[in-house]
Amino acid sequence: MTSREQVLQVLENRAGETVSGEELAAVLGISRTAVWKAIGKLREEGHHIEAGTNRGYRLIPDRDILSPQGIAACLEEPEAARNIRVYPELDSTNLQAKRLALEGAPDGTAVLAECQTAGRGRRGRSFYSPPGSGLYLSLLLRPEHLDAGSAVLVTTAVSVAVCRAVEQVTGQHLQIKWVNDLYREGKKVCGILTEAVTGIESGELESVVVGIGINVEAREFPEELRQVAGALYERRPPSFTRNRLAAAIIRQLRELDAMIADRSFLPEYRERSMVLGKPVLVYGGGEPEEAVAEEIDGQGALLVRHPDGSLRRLSTGEITIRLQQQKGN
Ligand code: BTN
Repeated sequence: MTSREQVLQVLENRAGETVSGEELAAVLGISRTAVWKAIGKLREEGHHIEAGTNRGYRLIPDRDILSPQGIAACLEEPEAARNIRVYPELDSTNLQAKRLALEGAPDGTAVLAECQTAGRGRRGRSFYSPPGSGLYLSLLLRPEHLDAGSAVLVTTAVSVAVCRAVEQVTGQHLQIKWVNDLYREGKKVCGILTEAVTGIESGELESVVVGIGINVEAREFPEELRQVAGALYERRPPSFTRNRLAAAIIRQLRELDAMIADRSFLPEYRERSMVLGKPVLVYGGGEPEEAVAEEIDGQGALLVRHPDGSLRRLSTGEITIRLQQQKGN
């Protein structure tokens, strides 16, 4: 760890408290000058660090700056910072997590970026990822038993885990549009992209990257997104930090294996579903087909009823809710 990271770790763990330069130097085994230089760098990055009256330093947590130390402090596990990487900019956190996976990064490695230049969405789409207003997080998972058939279960379980984390941190209730788009008050605020990583030499499925993109604060969305995209906040409250939200998501996703094993999350997934009982359009390659979303089965697959009465089970693909034609006028 650099001196800058070490100093930030101590200040994050004792946020709001004044820590003297002498103590920082002693605890970290570095010189007072190194402490002073580290504080300068952190301030340049935008951290709000006050110099207290006894010439100590105090981190004021009123700036929403992502950092491994800030996330680890929220997890109350300083050592967790080792497996959390935060970048000012990346092509895509999912791509970076996959690159790290191939280099042998451990289970639970988290990759975050302030912005993405090539954020990836489902079905080859891009994901709008401007700086400052979103949370772009990918988690590398190396589950004990990977089975391609349970991919939809992983995806549905992740949706519930993220809803729980958002609710814990913001108090907001999100709904789920199958399979894993999260909505708040009718607008999409979060997209999730789960990708498999195959070993170059083994050719075997060796890990899974779960990528989560959340619009935290409302921004001017590109024209094509304006109808559908929303955000958690019009303006985020001072008490909110993306570090807290990231930590809550990481904590929830640690339960993923257990959630999948006993499927205990499925009733909650169904309760949060905004499609059950609704007329939908099913996209599966060809022309979109009309149907009604009837049920989510024990594998997380969606059962849809077609107008001819036939029932179809969808384990991949995409649906949109069909607006029913207005009667009268
Ligand atoms: C979708 O709505 O189609 C899924 C969007 C997933 C976006 C997230 S942002 C973090 C991670 N990195 C990416 O490139 N994509 C995912």
